[in-house]
Amino acid sequence: MKTLYNEGKRLVGTIEVPGDKSISHRSIMLGSLAKGETIVHNFLESEDSLRTINAFEKLGVKIQKNGTNVKVNGHGINGLKQPDAPLNMGNSGTTVRLICGILSALPMKTNLIGDDSLSKRPMGRVIEPLHKMGANIVSQQNTLPMIIHGGGLQPIQYTLPVDSAQVKSAVLLAGLLTNGKTTVIEPNITRDHTERMLPLFGGTVYRDDQSITINGQQTLHGATVHVPGDISSAAFWIAGAVIVPNSDLIIENVGLNPTRTGLIQVLKRMGAMINSTIRRYEGDEPVGDLQIRYSPNLKATELKADEVATLVDEVPLLALIATQVNGSMEINHIEELKYKESNRIKSTVETLKKLGAQIEETPQGMVINGGNELFGSEIDTYGDHRIAMMASIASLITSSPVRLNNPDCISISYPGFFDELNQILK
Ligand code: S3P
Repeated sequence: MKTLYNEGKRLVGTIEVPGDKSISHRSIMLGSLAKGETIVHNFLESEDSLRTINAFEKLGVKIQKNGTNVKVNGHGINGLKQPDAPLNMGNSGTTVRLICGILSALPMKTNLIGDDSLSKRPMGRVIEPLHKMGANIVSQQNTLPMIIHGGGLQPIQYTLPVDSAQVKSAVLLAGLLTNGKTTVIEPNITRDHTERMLPLFGGTVYRDDQSITINGQQTLHGATVHVPGDISSAAFWIAGAVIVPNSDLIIENVGLNPTRTGLIQVLKRMGAMINSTIRRYEGDEPVGDLQIRYSPNLKATELKADEVATLVDEVPLLALIATQVNGSMEINHIEELKYKESNRIKSTVETLKKLGAQIEETPQGMVINGGNELFGSEIDTYGDHRIAMMASIASLITSSPVRLNNPDCISISYPGFFDELNQILK
């Protein structure tokens, strides 16, 4: 149990956030498939991303980690061997979904397991396209545990039925290891880190409007990856600075890939004072700084269907901010949130309701009647890191203390979260 209460302090100063989780996972995966040495700087040291390192070590890849620097000694796909025990994916949806694409294409048998929460999350979304490619994946109810008998895939053309970068990446990675051309069509754009990272490793991938095509059996070469700060971690401080009176915060060296910055776009539309500046590119990833100032008088906005994937992990924060808007705000098109680390429509609504918000679940998402003061309460984090951190940010504006059950789940993506909070709460 952690008690959080802000006695009139504000968020000020200049900070950096830890490395991007999505990019960290992919750097280890592509490094393991490549020939030669891959050096990753600013790797995210969190439970989820360490699962990916652990999985590839079990697949025979030599990986040395020294803090946030990681060296991957890739020997191409021939360097991967069948593991002698199940691969434990922990809580990491990205590890399991992306690795399914890779393992389905390799001639070996693997057994994948995960924690209770991950074992309830849908895997049919990756199993279905991989079955279409000819994969042999055995799973009871399209959930973990699953057994993959890899190899012998055919390329496909596949239209994503859900806006999911994990599914897109699983198919592209399977396509990379399969003879022929594989195409994924995404009706709404989702995070494109896999596509942006492949050229760094000497790979080629083509985007034409909504379709992304990869040629199979390309040889990747080791690369140096500089992981930018994670915009989804920065989002907690962005939300905090927007709602806590007199805040003025700078976040440096954060990833500003437009497929991830939906929260910033939506908040700007609501009248938030946020400046973002791209300073450089790391590979194909734009990186820069953000300045966020306290923004009273926010106005409600409508979330468009094609924006959701660009802020999919930030919806709990958007709901928190909506509690401070004068008037009513609907957040629609967010059905995908039901399949995250918790049912995030339910966990967001219930958490904010306990803190005094006027918020209800609707068939399309949620509706928030903003403008009332929040108060403290005991909060169950649902074992969901993003709900725990959202409630911690909410505590910055509650009139009494918030008590968090199971704050440890935060280390799934942001182990230093409370240290950072102490550093900027002044
Ligand atoms: C991720 C994609 C998103 C996101 C997850 C990380 C990724 O999931 O929620 O935290 O790294 O590809 P979906 O693509 O399934 O929406």
